[in-house]
Amino acid sequence: MFDLKGKTALVTGATGGIGRAIAKTLHAQGANLILTDISIEPLKVLMDELGAGEPVAVFAGNITEEKELKALVKFGEQHFGNIDILINNAGITKDTLSMRMTDEMWDAVLKVNLTAGFRLTREVLPQMMKKRWGRIISMASIVGVIGNVGQANYAASKAGLIAMSKSIAGEVAGRGITANCIAPGFIATPMTENLSDNVKQAMLDRIPMKRMGTPQDIANVVAFLASEESAYITGQTINVNGGMLML
Ligand SMILES: NC(=O)c1ccc[n+]([C@@H]2O[C@H](COP(=O)([O-])OP(=O)(O)OC[C@H]3O[C@@H](n4cnc5c(N)ncnc54)[C@H](O)[C@@H]3O)[C@@H](O)[C@H]2O)c1
Repeated sequence: MFDLKGKTALVTGATGGIGRAIAKTLHAQGANLILTDISIEPLKVLMDELGAGEPVAVFAGNITEEKELKALVKFGEQHFGNIDILINNAGITKDTLSMRMTDEMWDAVLKVNLTAGFRLTREVLPQMMKKRWGRIISMASIVGVIGNVGQANYAASKAGLIAMSKSIAGEVAGRGITANCIAPGFIATPMTENLSDNVKQAMLDRIPMKRMGTPQDIANVVAFLASEESAYITGQTINVNGGMLML
């Protein structure tokens, strides 16, 4: 698809539904990978699936902990010298109507989905600036564009990622670094599998393509945004949603 040989990509939330597809797709394009998530066991399984001896390093940690986040970036640099592509993919939901949403639910979602993405970006930017090449790709969501009942925290975090990316894109555009978001619609992953059949059907009714997206649908766009071929695209949000939202 695209040639990522010689580039190193750091993927957060790498053992989740979309993260696994991103890892496999970037690996197939020849990238060195730093894969991170909370637990080590699923990371080891993923590493085995990618093949022993391949340029893949795994790091288990919580990206909301500043120390662990800094250790992650250091780990990546020690392994591969530098990080060229950052994929801010880790995300969580804690849904309820706003009147019932506690501060803890609000803070937890903002911390993982937005603050950690900002801090990681801040950590990797200096080396990208030096190299005059970089790709920051953040996983937003359709609800960060249109909002969603019961997801004020999640929607705000994703809208925040979109605005953050535009701001950073402007700051570093002159250095060959792009910052973009992908806004998936309704994708079949562990995050969506627990929804009731009624909710799933209601979502499907809103999708002109009449199917949920696959993690691969998202990973394909990540591969493009990570590549040389996307060099003139920055500050954008690519909507990948089967026509659920047409902008
Ligand atoms: N599935 C969808 O329909 C959908 C739609 C729009 C956007 N997204 C976004 O895509 C991204 C991936 O979603 P997914 O569906 O693969 O979800 P998922 O739940 O399968 O994967 C998310 C991963 O993030 C990791 N993670 C969570 N908190 C973390 C932390 N503090 N530190 C480190 N890792 C942490 C989890 O362990 C998990 O492996 C998320 O940002 C999500 O918001 C998903």
